[in-house]
Amino acid sequence: MTFETLLLQIEERIATITINRPTKLNALNKQVKIELASVLDTLAQDDQVAIILITGAGEKSFIAGDDIAEFKDRTKDDFKPLQEITLQIENLRKPVIAVINGYALGGGTELALASDFRIASTNSKFGLPEITLGIIPGAGGTQRLPKVIGKSKALELIMTGEIIDASTALTLGLIDKLVSPAELMTSAIGFAKKLLQQSRFAIECAKEAVNYSTKHSVEAGLEKELDLLWKLKNTAESKQKVEAFLKKSRK
Ligand code: COA
Repeated sequence: MTFETLLLQIEERIATITINRPTKLNALNKQVKIELASVLDTLAQDDQVAIILITGAGEKSFIAGDDIAEFKDRTKDDFKPLQEITLQIENLRKPVIAVINGYALGGGTELALASDFRIASTNSKFGLPEITLGIIPGAGGTQRLPKVIGKSKALELIMTGEIIDASTALTLGLIDKLVSPAELMTSAIGFAKKLLQQSRFAIECAKEAVNYSTKHSVEAGLEKELDLLWKLKNTAESKQKVEAFLKKSRK
């Protein structure tokens, strides 16, 4: 696959997608969105890939947001592709890790929020500055941020457009892990490899079950959990692991 605005590297079942518009701080223009939707679709179906990392090119920015230069001519429908990409990430069976290496503004924070994990470097900055353009976030910021950091803090960031640093983001629970810029990629790959040690099917079912919890009642969620657990229990891999545990404990 060749792209105009992305780089793709696949190594040891870990795919790294790099948004590659560093001179525009990796702002998400139409071409990035077309390519991102397409690569996520391809990676979702690629059995050689178990985990997906998303990062930005250069040392300054993860993603500085939706491309403001395109705003003037946009129709309402033109705002939908970025929303759809966040759903694609959320609904992908494989874990997606946002590897945040600088500005994560607007669509950058929103794309990170749709990811399953957020690992950031100390030079990262976060925020939803859309209000300063007289609008509100349009790629899930108003929907996902309250679930991650709580309603009032989310409203504060959305209503003020305030940009926060990485340690504040960590305190708020907006990111999971904070490391130095030099350690960022090694740390993300290390975490991805930790996930690779577990059953791939179980990892995917864990994502499905937890995602389900955000949209359904606990009762429905428990049913879903049991169905997935039962499916997993009957796999050869689980049977083997249980057998190995019992053998070890008999010794
Ligand atoms: N859309 C389009 N272009 C963007 C962009 C965006 N969201 N963010 C940055 N760029 C472009 C700038 O226009 C500039 O392009 P140019 O060199 O052709 O003029 C280039 O990226 C570098 O940005 P610049 O503003 O010069 O860098 P800076 O270090 O002075 O400031 C930011 C960095 C992130 C604070 C600033 O670029 C910014 O506020 N960007 C917009 C963030 C935003 O509001 N995002 C939400 C959009 S809905």
